[in-house]
Amino acid sequence: MPQEAWQLTGSGPDSYERYQVPSVFAPLARLFLKRVPLAPGQRVLDVACGTGIVARQVAPVLGSTGSIVGIELNAAMLDVARQHAPGDGAPVEWRQGDAGSLPCRDAEFDIVLCQQGLQFFPDRPAALREMHRVLKPEGVGICVWRSIEHSPCHLAIAEALRRHVGTDIAQRFRAPFSFGDESFLNRLLADAGYRDVAIETETVARRLLPPEESVPGLLASTPVGPAVAALDEVAREAIIDEVARALSHYRDEYGLTVPQPTYIALARK
Ligand SMILES: C[S@@+](CC[C@H](N)C(=O)[O-])C[C@H]1O[C@@H](n2cnc3c(N)ncnc32)[C@H](O)[C@@H]1O
Repeated sequence: MPQEAWQLTGSGPDSYERYQVPSVFAPLARLFLKRVPLAPGQRVLDVACGTGIVARQVAPVLGSTGSIVGIELNAAMLDVARQHAPGDGAPVEWRQGDAGSLPCRDAEFDIVLCQQGLQFFPDRPAALREMHRVLKPEGVGICVWRSIEHSPCHLAIAEALRRHVGTDIAQRFRAPFSFGDESFLNRLLADAGYRDVAIETETVARRLLPPEESVPGLLASTPVGPAVAALDEVAREAIIDEVARALSHYRDEYGLTVPQPTYIALARK
């Protein structure tokens, strides 16, 4: 099966910003960036920036003397990023581009970041070499989810999709979690020329409203959204019921709090 490029269409980018960013990508960015040696005045690249949550959190740390470039394949994600651009700190330049051929000069950046993008690039070694090319002799930070067995919410949804929509759609939904393990990430970074590679596992506590409210929004903010929207009411309700049952263990007064672990890799050029 070809590499899933995880492209959102129609209202997908707005749904991503509304449902995925507050529940998981913003808290993940806080965990991730705590480990990265960011400092005022740096120039930072955010590869596969999506709707810009990483750049938004980096901007105040770099201050007005710093600068950020956000690169993203999907122009519609960049449109949402522009609407939510950071109000203070380093200015952000949003560029449409492919991680496999970065539209950037050699040694242009102090820090290169990539939060949950590497798993979608068709040629991951080439993308890591590109990030290496545009770095000064400083650092890179990469985040990729652990396999889906460690993320109960996505596992429950993937299983319900397999039963009610089909294996291809379930497979697309699993793509963000299909990267591989820590040793694979380690080897990819070392082979691309990085040194001092250090990989840790962190777990985001993903907070969601009760499944009846959160699962439709979550599905709409992924590439399988249009396939789910085309289902009849009975199938859509069955998916929500099955996910609610599978996640009953994670219910709390808020709705659901579900662990979602990620690898965070830091390395130097
Ligand atoms: C799960 S989102 C993560 C977005 C963002 N980094 C965040 O943390 O919210 C993955 C992003 O990778 C982008 N993407 C996929 N393939 C890409 C490529 N070859 N080059 C650049 N961006 C790509 C997708 O369009 C999508 O916006």
